[in-house]
Amino acid sequence: MTVPFLEVENLHVHFVGRQRLFASAMPTIKAVNGISFSIERHRTFGLVGESGSGKSTVARAILQLADITAGTIRLGGVDVTNVRAHEELAFRKRVQAVLQDPYSSLNQVHQVRTIVGDGITRHFGIRPGPEREKRILSLLDEVGLTDDFLDRYPYEMSGGQRQRVSIARALAVAPELIIADEATSALDVSVQSQVLNVMKRVQADTGVAFLFIGHDLDVVRHVSDDIGVMYLGYLVEQGDADGLHDSPAHPYTEMLIASVPVPDPAGQADRRTLRRSFKRDSEPPSPADLPIGCPFASRCPFAMDICTEMMPTPTVARHGGHVRCHLHTSGPILAGESVVPYIRSASRSPSV
Ligand SMILES: Nc1ncnc2c1ncn2[C@@H]1O[C@H](COP(=O)(O)OP(=O)(O)OP(=O)(O)O)[C@@H](O)[C@H]1O
Ligand code: SF4
Ligand SMILES: [Mg+2]
Repeated sequence: MTVPFLEVENLHVHFVGRQRLFASAMPTIKAVNGISFSIERHRTFGLVGESGSGKSTVARAILQLADITAGTIRLGGVDVTNVRAHEELAFRKRVQAVLQDPYSSLNQVHQVRTIVGDGITRHFGIRPGPEREKRILSLLDEVGLTDDFLDRYPYEMSGGQRQRVSIARALAVAPELIIADEATSALDVSVQSQVLNVMKRVQADTGVAFLFIGHDLDVVRHVSDDIGVMYLGYLVEQGDADGLHDSPAHPYTEMLIASVPVPDPAGQADRRTLRRSFKRDSEPPSPADLPIGCPFASRCPFAMDICTEMMPTPTVARHGGHVRCHLHTSGPILAGESVVPYIRSASRSPSV
């Protein structure tokens, strides 16, 4: 059996929130609540969910930028939950990040030569000169940028070009994992797909693993082998990307799928019906005051009494992954099968 390169086990990240006026205690913001997943080399794990679901907090915990409340993170089988100061340089060589806003994450006063070359010097000790220049040009070529980008500053490039430079900068240290947090979300659709193709090519060429974070399930599916769906800090469904998309088992996953427009008019009408069945306007609970039952109950058209009383435990879904929903265990009504036919029949019922 292949040992996964990254293993995240039962990760919890809680923050101390700001004290409200007249409140006696500081609130605890439970941003991530016991999530587990793993990524093998050459593979991409997509993390998808609405704003505030805890995706970036997971990324920050892996990158050692957020304190971990509980859980374990392993790289290549070695515990890296809390990397010590003297191990940090080696850790940063193995795990790199590409973030949403390359304009703020790239140093504006440096040319591409320095932005990409710095990592080569820091991690491989190759000083500025012909050898370093050769490596930078090869990295630019890998991300589809020509030699004349060497002398450009970030403000002289488009959003897509800056994001390619961010990828080249990450690749400069030959990392084993790249965490791409909303890396393409700010780009136009056509530029977005060019950058996604760059990532796929880079993975085919180098074998680097990706944790790809986004809020659009269609985009995440395009690049991912496996997907985890997050809601309010919980992983509510996880499985093979195509299986999960074609046969979603959690009502929230179905809601995400229904929110993506499709060109076919019949399919579009179907999705509209599905969309209407969800209580989209109701606010999700606050991570500072999590319900004891299912976190999705306030928006779920199928909520039963048990849903507000007890947190569902993960159970096997038809696509081979896991789903956290009482519909699959209480009854069992679905027993791991797709939620789609159930939603269609329920959405025709007047009670929904
Ligand atoms: N440093 C912090 N202190 C307190 N609360 C925080 C902190 N960082 C994140 N949070 C809270 O944790 C929750 C999860 O935030 P996070 O940024 O991880 O969500 P996200 O899924 O990445 O959202 P988005 O799609 O908007 O980027 C939110 O309620 C957020 O307000
Ligand atoms: S556990 Fe209940 S409320 Fe939660 S998603 Fe399933 S049916 Fe809906
Ligand atoms: Mg985020």
